[in-house]
Amino acid sequence: MELLARARELEAQGRSVVHMEVGEPDFTTPEPIIQAGLRALEDGRTHYTPAMGLPELRQAISNQYHLRYGLEIAPERIAVTPGASGALQLLMSVLINPGDGVLLADPGYPCNRNFVHLVGGIPQTVDVGADSRFQLNADLIEKSWKNNTRAVMVATPSNPTGTMLSKEELRDIVQVVQGHDGYLIVDEIYQGLIYESEDHTALETDDNLYVINSFSKYYGMTGWRLGWLVAPLDTTDAIDRLAQNIFLAAPTPAQYAALEAFSDETTTILEQRRDLFQQRRDYLLPALEELGFRFSVRPQGAFYLYGDCSRHSCDSASFAQNLLDQMGVAVTPGMDFGENAPETHIRFAYTTDLERLKEGVDRIRRFLKRT
Ligand SMILES: Cc1ncc(COP(=O)(O)O)c(C=O)c1O
Repeated sequence: MELLARARELEAQGRSVVHMEVGEPDFTTPEPIIQAGLRALEDGRTHYTPAMGLPELRQAISNQYHLRYGLEIAPERIAVTPGASGALQLLMSVLINPGDGVLLADPGYPCNRNFVHLVGGIPQTVDVGADSRFQLNADLIEKSWKNNTRAVMVATPSNPTGTMLSKEELRDIVQVVQGHDGYLIVDEIYQGLIYESEDHTALETDDNLYVINSFSKYYGMTGWRLGWLVAPLDTTDAIDRLAQNIFLAAPTPAQYAALEAFSDETTTILEQRRDLFQQRRDYLLPALEELGFRFSVRPQGAFYLYGDCSRHSCDSASFAQNLLDQMGVAVTPGMDFGENAPETHIRFAYTTDLERLKEGVDRIRRFLKRT
C-alpha cells in the first residue's frame, strides 16, 4: 500500500509508472453486471437484504456449484458477505476464541494474520517453499499442530504464489485437520483464474469445511465489496447472528448486480479475460526468468508471480523502492507476505496489459544493467 501511494505520487508528478503491484484486475466490471447494478438502483433496491444475503443470490451461487462441479450445496449453507474480507472476519469470529491458534502458510495473504489477531487468536505461521509448491500440506500441518491449534487456513490458488492444492492434497489435509478435530478454511477467491490445472473446489472433497470466495477477482468486482462463504449447516445460525451484528448485510445493489455474474453473456466476457491473463503470465514468466529472477514453481492460477530476486538483490524492499523511483516500475517486496525469506522475493502482478508488461520488463532490464 505504501508502494502504491508512492507510485501514485510519482504519477501525480507526471512520471509514467508501470503497475505490477496491484492485486486486482485492470478490467472494469463486465457490462451486464454494471447494467444489473444500475437497474437495481433505478428500481429502488436500496434497503437491507437479510444478513445472510439475497435469497436469489444464494440460490444462484448454489446453482453455480452444481453447474461447474456437479455439487449440491444447499443455499442455506451460503452466506453472502462484504467481500471475502467480510467472510474472513465472520469465520474468525465464529470459530476462533482468544488464545486459539490458526495455522497459516508463510508467505501468504497478509491480512489473514490480522483477522486472527482481531479475535484474540494466535497466527501460527508455517514456512512453505518450493518443495511443497508454497502450500501447506498434510505433513506440514501434522508437524506444526500445537496444543492450542484450532484451525488451518489455506488458499488455492494462493496469493502471492499462484500455486494450487490438488484434490488429493486437499483430501489429505482434510484427514489431518479432522483427526485433530480442527476447522479447515479454504480460500478459493482466485477460483476461475486457473491456467493449467483442473478447476476444482475443496467442497468436492468434504462437506465439513469452510470455503471462502468472492466476486472480486474472477468476476472483476473488487469495488462492489461482495463475497461469500460456504459453511457446514450446524454453524450457519451463528454466522447469521454474527453477520447481523457485524455488518447487517452485504451491499444491496451489489448483490442484485451479482445476479448477472453467472449469466452466459458475462461468462463469455470473463473467460476471454481469463485467456488474456494466461497470455500475460505466459509472456511474463519467461521474460523475468531471462532477466535472472527465479521461479522454482510454475504458478497455475491467480495473477501473481512470486520470484526469487537474490541474483540481483538480497534486500527486496530497497530493490522495489529503487526500481520504482529510478525506472517507474512498481512491484511488491516479499515483506508484505510474511517473514519467510521476504528479502529475496518479489511479487509481480500481471494486472496490467501486455504492452505495459513489456514496457515494465524493458525498464527492469535497463535497471539491472545500471545496478
Ligand atoms: C487470498 C485473498 N483472500 C482474500 C482477499 C480479500 O478479497 P476481497 O475482500 O476483495 O474479496 C484477497 C485480496 O487480495 C486475497 O488475495
